[in-house]
Amino acid sequence: MKQLYQGKAKIVYEKSPQEVVIHFTDGATAGNGAKKATIEGKGVLNSRISNLLFEYLGENGVVTHFIKQLNDRDTLCRKVTIIPLEVIVRNIASGSIVRRLGIEKGTVFDQPTVEFSYKNDDLGDPLLNDDHAVALKIATREELDHIKREALKINDLLKSRFYSIAMTLVDFKLEFGKDDEGVIRLADEISPDNCRLWNNENISFDKDLFREDSGDLIEGYEAVYHLLEETS
Ligand code: C5P
Repeated sequence: MKQLYQGKAKIVYEKSPQEVVIHFTDGATAGNGAKKATIEGKGVLNSRISNLLFEYLGENGVVTHFIKQLNDRDTLCRKVTIIPLEVIVRNIASGSIVRRLGIEKGTVFDQPTVEFSYKNDDLGDPLLNDDHAVALKIATREELDHIKREALKINDLLKSRFYSIAMTLVDFKLEFGKDDEGVIRLADEISPDNCRLWNNENISFDKDLFREDSGDLIEGYEAVYHLLEETS
């Protein structure tokens, strides 16, 4: 299969004009590639967790790229052109918003926030607002409104799914893409690599374990996977 894209933790292959195979590797990066490692088994866990969550979102009316899991590391997906926006939803302050706005870590927001970053490694994925996204022709205003509504719907669904395994969804990043019929689909992955998940003692079960060297990443991801799998 022709390789279309190699990311930090995934490789995308073209399976047919309308389908791709996403292969999850064990690559781990943080700080836009400043910290790098290979963590054996991470790709398998992310692939399994992401597939469970995409299936759940699909069953609940979210339009996604997911077709089916092929094996432990490969997932068949509808081919989309990624809209170069990182769509970040926050329920609780942590990470960059704490540093940027001086909010105390752990502050619970009355309403979830949605923010956009421009997906561009050379620029360090800078924040951008709707006007900038329209000016750069990344998306139309209607598409941005649709993406925000979808992101909030996904937040409600994921929050309750994680609540059912006694985890709090602090924040997460989504990516959307357009298929060849112009339909906007949720794409990329949803895993502890791009979500923050805390247990009821505010202990992290996500990539902060790697970013902050605060514990065993595989143990954390395995716990998330087993809890989701047992309750599927
Ligand atoms: O770093 P920051 O606090 O802005 O991250 C917010 C959420 O988005 C976190 O869950 C993080 O894992 C995710 N994220 C991501 N990829 C990025 C930036 C953030 O998955 N490039």
